Amino acid sequence: MDTNEAKFRKPISAVDGRESFAPAKLNLFLAVTGRRADGFHDLVSVAVPLEFGDALRMNAAEDFTLECDDPAVPSDETNLILKAARAFVAATGWKGGASFALTKRVPAGAGLGGGSSDAVAALRLLNARTGGLLGPEALSEVAATLGSDCPLFLADGPVVMRGRGERVEALPATVGARLRGRRALIFKPGFGVSTPWAFGRMAAGAPRSYLPGAEAEARLAAWIADERSPAEELLFNNMEAVAFGKFVALPALLQELRAEFGLTARMSGSGSACFALLGDDSPVAAIAKTVRGAWGASSFVVETRIA
Ligand code: C5P
Repeated sequence: MDTNEAKFRKPISAVDGRESFAPAKLNLFLAVTGRRADGFHDLVSVAVPLEFGDALRMNAAEDFTLECDDPAVPSDETNLILKAARAFVAATGWKGGASFALTKRVPAGAGLGGGSSDAVAALRLLNARTGGLLGPEALSEVAATLGSDCPLFLADGPVVMRGRGERVEALPATVGARLRGRRALIFKPGFGVSTPWAFGRMAAGAPRSYLPGAEAEARLAAWIADERSPAEELLFNNMEAVAFGKFVALPALLQELRAEFGLTARMSGSGSACFALLGDDSPVAAIAKTVRGAWGASSFVVETRIA
């Protein structure tokens, strides 16, 4: 189900380029464990890419340019795609250029990693185009300079993120298999949550707002070790408290979904998007109706799967 087709107002013009899918992500497990000397936060998170995402096309060009079918997306140098291109040039000394065309589906300010994934798609396209000037490690390092949520998108599957997000480890295949293919409903209200604001509130609520690192690791290890434990048992996000305290529409809906459908829904990342894992017989239309009833008819609602 995708009710957001109306968003695509402007056809993109690229015709002969290479295209890269830029998946959205969910944080199924997100434990912010403390603040670091550099101002960032340490975290332990299980992040999964989705089958839902943006599409980025790249054509050869003299200089770097970007167009997007969504006029709300800035297409100037503030866009992470062009920052990624500049970072690629700085890391490789490559002399070329490229025109990028972005088909935008993932909303901003959602905790779905849309901008970060677009940037990684740009890096991948440029690296492929130049015959792989950057090896996997160098690519990951460049990705980390663009944003804490960028390196995870180089993994193509469920990962554990540590540090500020730049230390990425693929989950073992048998563990990833418990997550891959799961249906998920993603929903976001009309407003977003600013990531720096949310981390700022975490710092203001210290130390209560944090889960000690050892506890986060123990919790994650227990879920990994229990082969029968479904994805639902993993769901955790200690950034919810700060977002829910300010944006009361979020917990109000999640409580309604629990009462009406027995669904455990969580927020992804720093929000404002939330998600619920669906069973084969989940009444998706009725759940979407409840979401729109609570958050308004124009709320973003999309059904997808963990990739
Ligand atoms: O890395 P990114 O640019 O996405 O981070 C945006 C902001 O979120 C940072 O400036 C920082 O305030 C906060 N942040 C953090 N700890 C992280 C990731 C982000 O404090 N692990």
